[in-house]
Order: sequence, then C-alpha cells, then structure tokens
Amino acid sequence: LKILVVASEVEGLVKTGGLADVARALPATLTALGHDVQVVTPAYSRTEPIWSHWPSQSLCVHLNLFDETWMAARTGSHEGLPLVQLEHAESFDRPGIYDDGRWPYPDNARRFGLLSKGALQWCKDNDWRPDIVHANDWQAALCCFYLKEHFKYDTFFDNTRSLLSLHNAAYQGQVPASWLQPLGIHEQFFHPGAFEDFGQINLLKGGIRFADALCAVSPGYADELVTDLGGHGLGALFRDRSDALVGILNGCDYGQWSPETDPMIPATYTTPDEPGKAECKRRLQQEMGFAERDVPLLVSVSRLTDQKGFHLLIPTLWEVLRERDIQIALLGSGDPQLAAHLHRLANHFPDKVAFVEGYDNALSHRMEAGGDAFLMPSIFEPCGLNQIYSLRYGTLPLVRAVGGLKDTVVPLSATQRNTRSATGFMFEEPSEAALRAEIERMVDVYERNPKLWLAMQRNAMKQRFEWESAAREYLKTYRRMLGENL
Ligand code: ADP
Ligand code: GLC
Repeated sequence: LKILVVASEVEGLVKTGGLADVARALPATLTALGHDVQVVTPAYSRTEPIWSHWPSQSLCVHLNLFDETWMAARTGSHEGLPLVQLEHAESFDRPGIYDDGRWPYPDNARRFGLLSKGALQWCKDNDWRPDIVHANDWQAALCCFYLKEHFKYDTFFDNTRSLLSLHNAAYQGQVPASWLQPLGIHEQFFHPGAFEDFGQINLLKGGIRFADALCAVSPGYADELVTDLGGHGLGALFRDRSDALVGILNGCDYGQWSPETDPMIPATYTTPDEPGKAECKRRLQQEMGFAERDVPLLVSVSRLTDQKGFHLLIPTLWEVLRERDIQIALLGSGDPQLAAHLHRLANHFPDKVAFVEGYDNALSHRMEAGGDAFLMPSIFEPCGLNQIYSLRYGTLPLVRAVGGLKDTVVPLSATQRNTRSATGFMFEEPSEAALRAEIERMVDVYERNPKLWLAMQRNAMKQRFEWESAAREYLKTYRRMLGENL
C-alpha cells in the first residue's frame, strides 16, 4: 500500500511525547513490511542538521481561495525512514514546537493547517497517490477535512481514505471562530456535529467527523472514548462514530529499549537477577545522591501534566516517605507548578527523593534500568510507553487501571496467586488513598517476598509488544477502509 503519515513530531527529529515514538516506529515497520510510506512533518529549526542538505522542491499551498503560501518540501530518508519535511520559516522556525513555553502560539491553526494541506499538496505535485492518509492527533486532523472537502472536485484522491489516530484526545486544538475563513472551513461545517465547540473551532472534532476511520492507541482507550467520562468532552461524537473506531495497542521499539543491548545504561542484563540489573541500580543511586542500600528505588519519567496523576502522587509521596524506607528518582519537564512541588518534596527528603527537572533521553534509559519499580498513576493514559519500557527492564510498573495501562500490565492479584502472570501493580480509584495502599502493598512485596518480586520481574521481562504485530493490525484496518475483503 501507499501510506502517507502526517505527524507534528517524529522521534529522532523532534519529540515531546509518545506520539513521536509512534510516528517513527510505525512507518518504519510498515516500510520494512514492504509498503510505500512517506512521513510528512514540519521542518522545525531544531531539526535543521538532518534536512538542510536534502533536495528541496517548492510547494504552493492554498488554505483558502485567497491564500497562497509558498513552502518548501525537502525529501530524504532518515535512518531508513522516508521523510518529507515541510519548510516554512515563518511558521516553524521558532524556539518551541507548539508554544512559547507558556502559551500556545496564536497561529497554531495556520501552522498545522499548512502541515495538513501541505502534505496533501505534496502528494499531488509528485503524483504520489496514497491509498491511506494516516493523520495523527489534532495537529494533522485537518488532513481528513481537506481531503474530503478541498479536493472534492479533483479526482486525484478519489481512492484515498483517511485514518485519524487518537494519541491524546484531551488536546483538541481549540481556536477562535475567526480562523474559519483563513483555514478554508466553510460556515456550513461550523456546527456542534463537526468543527463547532462552544463557539470555538475544535480541530480534532472536525477530524473525527471527516475521517473515514478512527484509531485509538489502545483497545482500552477506544472503549473509554465513547463514554462521557473518558471521551474528553467528545463522548457523544465518538459514540456517533463508534462503527469507525478501532483500538490498536502501540508497540515498543526494542532496538532502543532493551536491557540486553542498551548502550545508554551502565551494565546490560538478560535476566533480573544478573549482576547487571543491580549494577544499574547502584549507579542510579550514586547519580541521585542516595545511599547504596537495598531499599526499593521507585522511578518516574514523565511529562509534568495533570494527565499523569501528579496531584495524587505528590501528596501521597509526602505521606509514604514519612513512614517507609524507600528512594524515589523523578525525571520530568512541563508544568512549572508541578515542578515546584516536586522540588519542594526533594528538598524536604534529600536522602530519599531526587527530582531532575528537564528532558533527558539518556537519563530516562538509566532510570528504566536502575529502578525497582516505575510509578505511573495516570488519570487517563491513551496507551503509555514508559510502562512498556519498564516491563522490558524488569522495573515493575505501578499503574492506575486506565486506558493502555490496563491493556499492558497484569496486576498482582489480591490473593497473590497469579505469580506466573503478574507483571506489576494496579489501583482503580483515582484517589490518594487507593494509590497509597498500592504503593504500600508494593513495598511490602519488595521487602517481605523477594521471590515473588523476582518472579514478577521475570514475567515482566518476557512481555513483548512488537511493532510488527501492531503494524499488521493497522494494515488490516487500512485494507478494510479500502473495501478489501479480508
Ligand atoms: P506521553 O506521550 O503521554 O508523554 P508515553 O508514555 O506514551 O506518554 O511516552 C512518553 C515518551 O516520552 C517516552 O518515550 C518517555 O521516555 C519520553 N519522556 C517523557 N518525559 C521525558 C523526560 N523528561 N525525559 C526524557 N524522556 C521523556
Ligand atoms: C500520547 C499519550 C500516550 C501514548 C502516546 C503515543 O502522548 O498520552 O499515552 O502512549 O500518545 O501513542
């Protein structure tokens, strides 16, 4: 198949979260399976070293009848991934990707409108007819609309179908209604069943309405999206389109995330009881300024945002740390208020808590390898990759029973009988009490039942979430969209 993937971030070029990992790994796997894939993404200033020598072609993009924006498309291949980078300095040559560190850029609608329309225009200019346009999140959602409405009287895309992936439907790209004309969205689509959302334009909503099919990044998340509680305010629209909605669990790039081969960790290991795992822990304790003692070392790597459950985690840790002999290493960047709370916690318990504020890929590998357990008490989690990485490193995840976390972690049962299958710890209620009880239970198992802990680590390390099987699921979905009988 010919598949056009449109995404606002791609791992290796620019990344703020898991979307980037997926936008790289899925197309790479589809390519390896023999499909003709192009990934279209903006050429942000920070990706310059990669694309600046690639051949460039100019692209004339019309967001509306009167607009004419000249962009440049640079085509090349980055580590085996076929890429088209859309260059438009005025839009993308900025310090941030989506915001200035505080506020979203006021012209985000136009920036990502240009990405969406530019991607389609590139196909036309190069006579490259995609079978599938695979758009990701609100930033590329307009692809689905433009494909249906702006190319309506053009036969070029007659056989093309669009799939919108929902990595995080909490981010919807809401912009003032004054953007309708500049984005080329006709008034007739400004109603609550399409783009309109309490008087504003909601780009994700429009995408959900116009896409031929929708894909959530885990089956659990797909189930939640059609509910009022889990649909991020769009539950009714998701219910309306539930026939078109599937859930496909993300994979893990084990080429990058494996304790057997990871060049970023101090010692490699194949099983959890090998000296390598203990060495990784010892080195992480050193790095964090902790005593090198046999106490549970809990780690967390995360965007600092409400989604990740910090308003449960922070007060709970204050309580647990007063009573239990544990160490906690946290890495994260994002909300400055949450960062301030975490700094305060670390200052109060300097021997027990270390907080590194920032984005540091190598450190995130050392934490995955060096920790005993990984904390991920998310309020919602479309898929979650860190718990999947943790499993592979024998670092037991403690997660809330939600979205993709529920689909990837097998919780230790209350009776502790599922010793052959349990891979982590799970709590249900989004409350401090429930989180605290689960942390205590986990610490108890670590302290009192090392055999069980080791068994769980073994179970965890055996889990595999291969991109190849995820990619095959996507292919089935694509083919179904094209009307092929499977
Ligand atoms: P989300 O996409 O919601 O942030 P995921 O678990 O799917 O959550 O993916 C997060 C990705 O971003 C992982 O690859 C994780 O290692 C990485 N990441 C998040 N925060 C940081 C950080 N502060 N430093 C390094 N890597 C981070
Ligand atoms: C989003 C979600 C995360 C998911 C990632 C990749 O950022 O928050 O749960 O793993 O996208 O699909």
